[in-house]
Amino acid sequence: MTAIEIRNKFLNYFKSKGHQIIPSAPLIPENDPSVLFTTAGMHPLVPYLLGEKHPEGTRIVDYQKCLRTVDIDEVGDNRHLTFFEMLGNWSLGDYFKEDSIKYSMEFLTKELNIPIEKLSVTCFEGDNDAPRDEETAKLWQEVGMPKERIYYFGKEDNWWIAGDEGPCGPDTEIFYDTGKAPCSDRCNPSCGCGKYVEIWNNVFMEYCKNADGTYTKLKQQNVDTGLGLERMNMLLQGKETPFDTEIFKPMMDKLETLAKNDSIESRRIVAEHLRASMMVIADGGRPSNIDRGYILRRLIRRMIRHLNKLGIDLNNLKDLINLNIEILGEMYSELISNREAIINTIIEEKEKFIKTLENGEKELQKELNKLKEKNVDILSAEEVFRLYETYGFPQEVTKEIAEESGFKVDLETFDKLFEEHQKKSRLGSEQKFKGGLADQSPETIAYHTATHLLNAALKVVISSDVHQKGSNITAERMRFDFSCDHKLTDEEKKQVEDLVNKWIDEGLPVTVEEMEKEKAINSGAECMFIEKYPDIVTVYSIGNVSKELCGGPHVKNTNELGKFVIKKEEASSAGVRRIKAILIK
Ligand code: SER
Repeated sequence: MTAIEIRNKFLNYFKSKGHQIIPSAPLIPENDPSVLFTTAGMHPLVPYLLGEKHPEGTRIVDYQKCLRTVDIDEVGDNRHLTFFEMLGNWSLGDYFKEDSIKYSMEFLTKELNIPIEKLSVTCFEGDNDAPRDEETAKLWQEVGMPKERIYYFGKEDNWWIAGDEGPCGPDTEIFYDTGKAPCSDRCNPSCGCGKYVEIWNNVFMEYCKNADGTYTKLKQQNVDTGLGLERMNMLLQGKETPFDTEIFKPMMDKLETLAKNDSIESRRIVAEHLRASMMVIADGGRPSNIDRGYILRRLIRRMIRHLNKLGIDLNNLKDLINLNIEILGEMYSELISNREAIINTIIEEKEKFIKTLENGEKELQKELNKLKEKNVDILSAEEVFRLYETYGFPQEVTKEIAEESGFKVDLETFDKLFEEHQKKSRLGSEQKFKGGLADQSPETIAYHTATHLLNAALKVVISSDVHQKGSNITAERMRFDFSCDHKLTDEEKKQVEDLVNKWIDEGLPVTVEEMEKEKAINSGAECMFIEKYPDIVTVYSIGNVSKELCGGPHVKNTNELGKFVIKKEEASSAGVRRIKAILIK
């Protein structure tokens, strides 16, 4: 079986159980500008878990593209991936534990033909917030799971929540026994030795964690499941790593033939990061120095560094991209339709990185000369870190060059500095994630509506060709990126500001309706990624000045917004401008 066959089997199985298939939402969240990337299947479905009506009903099945960059530096080992696909079946206040467990068991043993002996499961052991999930354990036994392969663990293993707040609940995880020898008498699915591999997580989402740390029951009982496609594919094919399956193998082989100094870790990093970067670019991401643009930049640059390490000529990049489109195009047609943008973006970033390397090297030489004059033969960790932070100059390259000139390099202290830096940026991303799911404060909602007005005003004042390219909202301000070929003049900025304020003063009603996607588009509704929407969409209208496909939420009337003030207009990337604005109440 191949990955795409597993995906199709999954979709069809759940379709036969009354689920509607919905397409993957983009990696770059559409309605959640404060989040970097979609990191789990639940992400685009949060409003429906909270009780909003989903246009496709209460039973959904999906295949969601996800990007998790917390482990970016682990990629290269035999299992970590940044980009992956998560298959999921969803009950939005429909069935609960019993059917969810029945479906999982039937799909694994009847559709994928996994012998039940290979499977074990874990359940929530209970604490002050929620009871021990004996019901789930009993249901597992009813579908044939022997008692001795049902384990109980605490919140760390068997509770699922995205970030710190929001919908959550106990989960039951299904593990596949690889057949490896147990690591000890107490070897179990949570010991992490590698004998047991988690393949599917069923979350029984009936709680909401509040900002003060307390839990309340949600309006409805939901089921959120996540099955990692690449991992399942690897296990079913009896492979040791996802890099040995059809998703990566042709790329790994190609890199091997091109490499002058082979290293399997470097080949994995190149194959993984190339795929991840291509997926991000296909969904509209572009490299930059902040937020998601920065993550993309890191992915591309790390890949290039490892191409260099392998001794592969960077002129091969275009061929490698095309090869990946051949491998992955059937699963992700957006790679085919965005071929040119992907090639251009990656090649442009490569050129920039080459310049960075040149600048960094000059800077390093200057520093080494200074040290020589002072008769010092150690390059300090702080200096290595400065080169890394300021010039993006990779520490391994610094070390190599410095050592060639007879210097010692303290990479151990560098690692410590680096770790601290990582911790900070990780905290930053978690904050972001949390913000996205939990922060639907009146302020952010008002800013969300203001972005629609700004989008509409730009079309009137600048050109109907202006389109939204991204946005980012906090409780304090909004940022809006849009396509535009010139810096706005003061006059244009003033006109845009005035027009938005005029609409605010007019007290225009904000209304929402569900309609067929085609009808929405034909009626002139604005949207960022047309092919990504399901057939039935929600459309928000503001008076008759703005109409956009959007998941909300929004204010009820523009008179709730306050005064709109543009604080800054600047370039964001080629052909894209950025406006920072605030609302004054
Ligand atoms: N939300 C759960 C996870 O990401 C199941 O989909 O594991």
